[in-house]
Amino acid sequence: VGSPRIAIIGAGPSGFYAADQLLKQGAEIDLVDALPTPFGLVRTGVAPDHPKIKSVTRIYERTATHEAFRFFGGVRLGADVSRQELLDRYDGVIYALGASADRRLEIAGEDLAGSHAATEFVAWYNGHPDFADRTFDLSRRRAVVVGNGNVALDVARMLALDPDELAGTDTADHALAALSGSRVEEIVVLGRRGAAQAAFTNPELLELGEMSRADVVVAAEDLELDPLSALVEDDAGARRRLEILRDYAARERTGRSHRIVLRFLCSPVAILGDAAGRVSGIRVARNRLEIERGRVRAVATGVEEDIECGLVLRAVGYRGEPLADLPFDATRGVIANRDGRVVSDDGVPLPREYVVGWIKRGPTGVIGTNKKDAAETVACVLADLNAGILRGPRPTHRDTASQWLRERVPHLVEWAGWQAIDVHERLAGEASGRPRVKLVRVGDMHEVSSARAVDAQAR
Ligand SMILES: Cc1cc2nc3c(=O)[nH]c(=O)nc-3n(C[C@H](O)[C@H](O)[C@H](O)COP(=O)(O)OP(=O)(O)OC[C@H]3O[C@@H](n4cnc5c(N)ncnc54)[C@H](O)[C@@H]3O)c2cc1C
Ligand SMILES: NC(=O)c1ccc[n+]([C@@H]2O[C@H](COP(=O)([O-])OP(=O)(O)OC[C@H]3O[C@@H](n4cnc5c(N)ncnc54)[C@H](OP(=O)(O)O)[C@@H]3O)[C@@H](O)[C@H]2O)c1
Repeated sequence: VGSPRIAIIGAGPSGFYAADQLLKQGAEIDLVDALPTPFGLVRTGVAPDHPKIKSVTRIYERTATHEAFRFFGGVRLGADVSRQELLDRYDGVIYALGASADRRLEIAGEDLAGSHAATEFVAWYNGHPDFADRTFDLSRRRAVVVGNGNVALDVARMLALDPDELAGTDTADHALAALSGSRVEEIVVLGRRGAAQAAFTNPELLELGEMSRADVVVAAEDLELDPLSALVEDDAGARRRLEILRDYAARERTGRSHRIVLRFLCSPVAILGDAAGRVSGIRVARNRLEIERGRVRAVATGVEEDIECGLVLRAVGYRGEPLADLPFDATRGVIANRDGRVVSDDGVPLPREYVVGWIKRGPTGVIGTNKKDAAETVACVLADLNAGILRGPRPTHRDTASQWLRERVPHLVEWAGWQAIDVHERLAGEASGRPRVKLVRVGDMHEVSSARAVDAQAR
């Protein structure tokens, strides 16, 4: 009978937590990712000025030392391998694909040059190879960030950080160069609801107030609570948020060169362009709040205002995308599932297929949320194992799957190959006091990882 063999597709936090928990139960794990590099959004999402958060990868590196763990980077489900091929070779398949697409505003002007999804900007400054060639117009004084979540604060901070501070981070070189030449001095962050309903968290909000070259600007009148928001009296987190914001509103301007302006009760209605088709501003509507089915909702008052700017980044959430022929819940943007078991369109569990992380529950939650989420999925896998459901027509030898992947993907990057990339990047960073200098071209990653494989063979 032997150990169950599980393929996990997606090497972000949720894939690693599921791998770790299953290895502890005696499973054999092949962790597969479309990129040659592991760690998902920890590498390509988490802001470079948060190195402590990025250091969670040490936990994942420990998981990778397990002898029943293998990593196969550079393998994209849907392009290089199919769902059925995986089911033919493994007892179970767990999809941990994340949710990397962006949500749109669906307003006029959204596709003008200079209007982008924050997902692109984030992937660009973090050196995601698919985004390394993007460009962002940083030549105008003001940028506008739409959205009131932690991603909105991340991108606002990245635009306001001093180049000297950025220089000590693992921000991709192309982004360092562009940001150090940036003329953006004011970043306006727009929340469509009130301060009491903002989605960002308090440590991130406090960080804005400690920036070396930027003041945080909040208008006191934006913090006057309407009767609906007075309900926050019950919510300690929201009370603290308002305290922090009131402190910001009361601060004297220090005359720092840059400003992050937090505005509330403002929805974008159109992105405005110049004759050359470039963003020249954004039209916003002033909102008031209403309750609809128990949720506080923003409703336009009819009062509008134009804000001049050269760059608009919409940080209104990520979105999962349908993949291959997997059942998809389009309303929630997730693979259709119940507690982690993939289900058919009519809700019947599909044997041996599971889901975890953002593609299971939607694009919210911090890194740690995925650990608990993985535990729920792993419990389903183990229950199915005990019930005799988890047994695929897989070949008897474990190497058959790796052989197949090596033949299918000419530039497969295995764990030793990733370690070679990691060492290369860290060494390159040492010289300039940075945690690493990221390789941002897949070809360069292949070169570094295969040089290492050749070394190992020669030894
Ligand atoms: C900009 C940003 C900043 C964040 N900052 C923080 C933070 O500071 N602190 C914090 O706690 N949380 C933060 N988060 C949240 C955290 O990153 C997520 O909770 C977590 O990454 C979700 O994990 P996941 O494994 O579901 O998805 P992901 O991390 O997105 O991993 C999915 C993986 O699947 C791979 N993949 C996708 N499609 C395929 C395919 N077809 N075939 C093969 N592989 C595929 C991808 O390459 C990727 O490696 C941040 C999120 C964002 C977007
Ligand atoms: N440092 C960190 O810990 C960190 C950093 C980054 C991300 N993360 C986590 O990653 C997850 C994703 O973050 P996120 O910022 O992408 O998502 P999020 O927290 O869901 O925030 C999305 C924001 O966009 C707004 N929005 C949605 N549609 C809009 C529209 N059409 N017009 C205007 N505003 C709109 C939402 O407002 P409404 O509330 O009105 O819908 C909300 O303020 C979160 O759980 C976050 O905490 C954590």
